[in-house]
Amino acid sequence: MKSLVVVAGVTVAAFLTIAMLGTAGWSLPPIAAQQHGFRGTGMDQIQTKREAAADQAANQAPAAADPASADGDKAGTTYHNVQVLKDLSTEQFNRVMTSITEWVAPEQGCTYCHNTENMASDDLYQKKVARRMLQMTQAINGEWKEKHVHEAGVTCFTCHRGQPVPKNVWFENPGLTAKGLTEPRNNGQNMASPEVGLASLPYDTLTEFLGKKGLDDNAIRVNATTALPEGKGKSIQDAEKTYGLMMHMSQSLGVNCTYCHNTRAMSQWPQSTPQRVNAWHGIRMVRALNGDYLEPLKGTFPENRLGPNGDVPKIGCGTCHNGQPKPLNGAHVIESYPELAKATASAADAKPQPASPPADAPK
Ligand code: HEC
Ligand code: HEC
Ligand code: HEC
Ligand code: HEC
Repeated sequence: MKSLVVVAGVTVAAFLTIAMLGTAGWSLPPIAAQQHGFRGTGMDQIQTKREAAADQAANQAPAAADPASADGDKAGTTYHNVQVLKDLSTEQFNRVMTSITEWVAPEQGCTYCHNTENMASDDLYQKKVARRMLQMTQAINGEWKEKHVHEAGVTCFTCHRGQPVPKNVWFENPGLTAKGLTEPRNNGQNMASPEVGLASLPYDTLTEFLGKKGLDDNAIRVNATTALPEGKGKSIQDAEKTYGLMMHMSQSLGVNCTYCHNTRAMSQWPQSTPQRVNAWHGIRMVRALNGDYLEPLKGTFPENRLGPNGDVPKIGCGTCHNGQPKPLNGAHVIESYPELAKATASAADAKPQPASPPADAPK
């Protein structure tokens, strides 16, 4: 009798194990774990080897175009309406045009931005947006080199990946919009939104923290900075908003909280990883890009590109990162395109100002 029970037990266990491995939500070993903080603090990033390989494969940077000669007439003299790249040689300018076509509109080709009857014409909104994008890319690689993108830099491909509209953009989220006597009230939360990992957290947290330029530098902080309360402090709702943003950042980078925090003391900079400082600047950079470059394009975009509130599409951490801690596997994409790195006179009037990290941030 006893052996019969054992056999039955083993059979059930074997079936359950097989069923478990076959259903969603379970990852098959082998595991690729990476240590991030001090030993024993559990600050590890855990992925299966399969996931890690798929991630790498999905984030390949394209090969750079062959370099072009700097000799000959400048693009500004050869052509009629070149405003940003006028100091390049004509050959270098044409190389950039070929590359941006490959990065942004490989299927549509030159006609995505140009009226081929008259290349100098600014009739198409796509060309006007693209000119601003050239300036934005120069500002990212110039103004934000030290603070965020370093030697890796970005090209149009970092965000666009062969698509005119990048995959990871966001809009203001108006939530429930039904009007009338029974106007719903949900305090801006408890609605599935991918921005906050479908959790019951405030769903429009990006508008608050990544959409506003000139936000107070302490807006995201919620932990007390003194042992005893000295004032009203932040509410639970504020903490939920901060958590919503943290979900966005973690998902965008494909990491968990311990990539940046020692979770026994979230707020403390000396216990955090150096990556948290990168992230701190990243938040300021994204605000500046949205405020200085995307927001002013509101009148340029056609209506069908705007969000439910009539707002412009905006950049988040995932626009560049696409699920990786370093976009495009950390490739140094800007090396072969120095013209997309220097800030030109026309970009200077909309310079995003890098801020400093908190005084107690790790150096
Ligand atoms: C993603 C948008 C985009 C695509 C695609 C694109 N261009 Fe352009 N093109 C621009 C922008 C923006 C300018 C203006 C640059 C400036 O002001 O510095 C421009 C300017 C030009 C000019 C100068 C015209 C003049 O007289 O002022 C030429 C020539 C040109 N592009 C050729 C091409 C060719 C050829 C292709 C396809 C291989 C192409 N472009 C694809 C955005 C684009
Ligand atoms: C930091 C990310 C980022 C970079 C870098 C970037 N873009 Fe964009 N781009 C965006 C976002 C966000 C939009 C808005 C998406 C939309 O149009 O709905 C956009 C929109 C555009 C559009 C309009 C597409 C449409 O039909 O609405 C063009 C054209 C464009 N970008 C060209 C470029 C070019 C050319 C470069 C490189 C010089 C570039 N972008 C670099 C984020 C980026
Ligand atoms: C990529 C780095 C990064 C990741 C991943 C990350 N955080 Fe943060 N976190 C930051 C930065 C940077 C700040 C400070 C933002 C500021 O002050 O502008 C912060 C602030 C916080 C704060 C407020 C601390 C204070 O001073 O009051 C909390 C709480 C927090 N994070 C929780 C989390 C949780 C929970 C997760 C995982 C879901 C997470 N973080 C993931 C970088 C990160
Ligand atoms: C314009 C593109 C872009 C955007 C937007 C962006 N990043 Fe980055 N980020 C980069 C690049 C490029 C690097 C790689 C720098 C390097 O190789 O040193 C990077 C590196 C980082 C790192 C360091 C990773 C490591 O392992 O060293 C962190 C952390 C980070 N970003 C967080 C963020 C957060 C959080 C946001 C959103 C608030 C954000 N980034 C938005 C381009 C971007």
